[in-house]
Amino acid sequence: MNAARTNFTLPTLEDLEVEDLRVLVRADLNVPLEDGAIADDLRVRASVPTLEALLERGARLAVCSHLGRPKGKVREELRLAPVASRLAELLQRDVLALDEVVGEEAERACASDADVVLLENLRFEPGEEANDAGFAAALASFAQAYVNDAFGSSHRGHASVVGVPALLPCAAGLLLAREVAELERLLEGPEHPFVAVLGGAKVSDKLGVIRNLLERVDAVVVGGAMAFTLLAAQGHDVGGSRVERGRLDEIRDTLKEAEAKGVDVLLPSDVMAAEGIGEGSPHEVVSLAGIGSRMGVDIGPETAARFGDVIAAARTVLWNGPMGIFEIDDYAAGTKAVALAIAEATSKGAFTVAGGGDSAAALVELGMTDAVSHLSTGGGASLELLEGKELPGVAALRKERS
Ligand code: 3PG
Ligand code: MG
Repeated sequence: MNAARTNFTLPTLEDLEVEDLRVLVRADLNVPLEDGAIADDLRVRASVPTLEALLERGARLAVCSHLGRPKGKVREELRLAPVASRLAELLQRDVLALDEVVGEEAERACASDADVVLLENLRFEPGEEANDAGFAAALASFAQAYVNDAFGSSHRGHASVVGVPALLPCAAGLLLAREVAELERLLEGPEHPFVAVLGGAKVSDKLGVIRNLLERVDAVVVGGAMAFTLLAAQGHDVGGSRVERGRLDEIRDTLKEAEAKGVDVLLPSDVMAAEGIGEGSPHEVVSLAGIGSRMGVDIGPETAARFGDVIAAARTVLWNGPMGIFEIDDYAAGTKAVALAIAEATSKGAFTVAGGGDSAAALVELGMTDAVSHLSTGGGASLELLEGKELPGVAALRKERS
């Protein structure tokens, strides 16, 4: 089925009987950590409305999530304890944080009358990624109903995402439902001009999205390292910049398709060139021809102005991926200019969406999370949805109903 139609049959929280029941909530609490502390709590905050709605209706919760990629083994630095503390602050309630995912302790906690239990990192158990039937059954045994609110994980066919909903009455949480609806708005009847702003390291991650959007967008604006692969495909010399050589033919085909469909593809004409990607390495703004042995680490000011004009005049904007290495101040100007242009479009009534972990991180860093109509908590999940794929976690909920 077409991804654009899934939302019509998504069971919602209201469809689910929850009073006096334990509800297993799959959330995506996979937050960035720095020295054991949460560096950005966007995903924890985004999961709160569903948890509160369920608690208000008299449910007791067993919340579960993965954190990082421990690959089926306990890794002390990936325990969910810091997330439990933040969640308790936000909910203003006790959160009983377990140090196991399944087992006797988890069974006892879920059978108790504790309002909010947080299971340990799902990926400590090999059964999670393997979608093991026994592991899914063990998770399901803790609860009488299941809610998937983990939009950012719904492209994964893991036990907590696709295994459990086959075993319990289930529904989409508020975040999952909103994410799907907002992203589908980009695919279904978007207002024009519709501009897709793409950046980040690798063009290979984004080609599927570009192809699916060519039917719908008026312009594709490309920055970040991926722009150099497109420029190289057009025959430009990009010096020491990163190029995915294996993708050049595919990209030439995609560029031809864009031309045939009348979609403008805007690429950098000037860049910040640096001798290394580290902080403090010598850098200057140059035209493409001037990069030489250096590498491009941000779009230049002339490019930023050109991109900004197109973005600010759009009625619909999708932004995925930074324009340069924005974590380093000297290379953040292009990303900031794009964020400001998107904020301007939003303030003039455009529908604007930022998706992908790095664009969200850039907006958080710039203190500009309000600059977009919708800030997606999904990275890979939002890309797969925009490629036109149905997310396995969403399909698993829909199936339950039909
Ligand atoms: C994400 O951060 O994109 C999601 O939490 C999914 O994590 P994963 O890419 O490790 O599956
Ligand atoms: Mg990821």
